[in-house]
Amino acid sequence: MNSFIQRCIEPDCQTEYKIDERLYVCSRCGGLLDVVWGDTVVDADSLRKLWRERKSSLDVRDRSGVWRFREFLPFAEDVEVVSLGEGNTPLYEAPRSADYCRLSHLKLKHQGCNPTGSFKDTGMTVAVTQARKLGAQLVVCASTGNTAASLAAYAARAELRCAIIVPGGQVSHAKLAQALDYGAKVLEVEGNFDSCMNVIRELSEDGAVYLVNSINPFRIEGQKTVAFELAEQLEWRVPDHLVLPGGNLGNSSAFGKGFRELLRSGLIDRLPKITVVQAAGAAPFARFYREHDAFVNEEHPQTLASAIKIGAPVSWPKAWRAVSETGGSVITVTEQEIADAKAVIGRDGIGCEPASATTVAGIRKLISERAIQEDETVVAVLTGHLLKDTDYVMKYHSDSLIAPDGERLASNFGNSPIRVPASLKMIRALL
Ligand code: F0G
Repeated sequence: MNSFIQRCIEPDCQTEYKIDERLYVCSRCGGLLDVVWGDTVVDADSLRKLWRERKSSLDVRDRSGVWRFREFLPFAEDVEVVSLGEGNTPLYEAPRSADYCRLSHLKLKHQGCNPTGSFKDTGMTVAVTQARKLGAQLVVCASTGNTAASLAAYAARAELRCAIIVPGGQVSHAKLAQALDYGAKVLEVEGNFDSCMNVIRELSEDGAVYLVNSINPFRIEGQKTVAFELAEQLEWRVPDHLVLPGGNLGNSSAFGKGFRELLRSGLIDRLPKITVVQAAGAAPFARFYREHDAFVNEEHPQTLASAIKIGAPVSWPKAWRAVSETGGSVITVTEQEIADAKAVIGRDGIGCEPASATTVAGIRKLISERAIQEDETVVAVLTGHLLKDTDYVMKYHSDSLIAPDGERLASNFGNSPIRVPASLKMIRALL
């Protein structure tokens, strides 16, 4: 195993901690922590070969799209992993979405095809493995729904007690149902995600409680492997652009770290431009990008894409590193643009939850502004499954989706069900 440590990301601090020290931020300056490893020489060709060979193995770690890349994970070879067979998600060609964006090709990396239906599983397998290794008694998170569903499942597998804190009345039924079924203690707080996050950070100062939000660097370690899997699926040819939604900004941070480590190890020869797309009503990171001033939280974030209804993203400094060092950007899209893009992704036979559709909406906008060229290679990351929020889907297709500002959204790609008597003649006529 490489020699891994945790290190503060703040340039003028850089305090180092042992890999198994249980902390979430730097105890000296409060900065975010990175897991880093020494300069071990990597033989890129042998690693690529080893990773490919593992695909035909029956070992639990090799069946996982995260642990298959364990040379880059901060654990000893004999660690007992908590896995649900996460990762190994498809990379789809999406011709209708490409056409909608006016691109010649568009690929969609569907992280919604993970065991609990979102990208969170790739981070949770690592964070819960670390929780068990540290002997934690209770694992907790604040969540807009997907982290909660994922943690609840992995905690159940690890036989750890689990509590999740969610904004009351603001989480989709599907996500809440998952957490309940997996046996987590679900606490609905009167407030938004940011208030949940504040409470949970205080709670996790108790040593028996282990916090697995993406502020925990082990979550990022798991999620970074999606960059490895994607690069492998593209035969190690890096796309010009990687576009993903931004909420708490852990995922953008993870992709940035993953690609950085691949470049440093000689597995790829350049970085993709990482572009983060936020919903216009919940876009503190986009404002920071535009104004290049101090980071200001959004007091009252608003969007129907409830997964990314976040005003105080904890990981923004890491996400900023990912965007700035790759030459990417941060943009916003409207509620209408999200809703329409989501329906178009559906027409490709793929589908996703609203937050994920910010990507296709964002790419369309970047092409119209000529920030992406028609012949460039673009991959969008779909973060959650279509079935995560069916209420939204039904409202869109029945022309009754109301935006947070009270405006009814147009059902531009609507497909409402047709009521018909049980008559062959009438059904024939309709077909
Ligand atoms: N897409 C989906 C489907 C999500 O659930 C989230 C975040 C994001 C995008 C944004 O990712 O936070 O890493 O920038 N969901 C969190 C949760 C906040 O609690 O499930 P991010």
